[in-house]
Amino acid sequence: MTDEDAEKKVAAEAAAALVSDGMTVGLGTGSTVAHLLPALAARGLDIRCVATSPATESASRDLGLSIEPFESLGHLDIAIDGTDQVAPDGWLIKGGGGAHLREKIVAASTRRFVVIAQSSKLVDALRPPLPLELRTFGMAATLESLEPLGEVVVRDCPPSPDAGVIADLTCDIGDPAALARELEATPGVAAHGLFDAALVSEVLVGRGAEVATVFSRS
Ligand code: A5P
Repeated sequence: MTDEDAEKKVAAEAAAALVSDGMTVGLGTGSTVAHLLPALAARGLDIRCVATSPATESASRDLGLSIEPFESLGHLDIAIDGTDQVAPDGWLIKGGGGAHLREKIVAASTRRFVVIAQSSKLVDALRPPLPLELRTFGMAATLESLEPLGEVVVRDCPPSPDAGVIADLTCDIGDPAALARELEATPGVAAHGLFDAALVSEVLVGRGAEVATVFSRS
């Protein structure tokens, strides 16, 4: 296991310890969450989970975790997910794996959103590329309306589970809140990878064998 993987694992194990019997749990997507799933399954808790991607759903089921449709769970007690970048003020960039639409819906509907990462994910300021999910209908028009912001490159990958096109925007992210507002006001943009710090309850970061809470919203 690489040092980075070891840091992901200790952060994931610390997050798994926050889950208790009877909870409804949102499960994120990615290589850090891949360490969370076995740690959670090993606890043998009676929990009901929603997955943010087909990959997480399938890995969770293989481990014996109970995955249900989101609609049958209602509000979530806790959601745990990885991230691509964490700024000092708690803003995130997510979507490296293209799952940011579902991840954001889950993050916004949980009482506690716990972010897990290795120490290299900490940045002084968020930087591009910024993942997007675009609607296919009228995509040429959407791409044209994004032109003033920067360059959009459509990823060479399958559509999202919600039939969206995954793309990356290279642009100035000096004011993430203003950029988020602008993207949310652009028809055809189904989701962007900026996660407001207001969504985040805490960020647990692996540093060597230790776990540090680098951001906590009280
Ligand atoms: C999935 O689209 C992403 O938001 C991931 O949660 C994020 O990219 C972190 O992935 P890793 O844990 O693989 O670094």
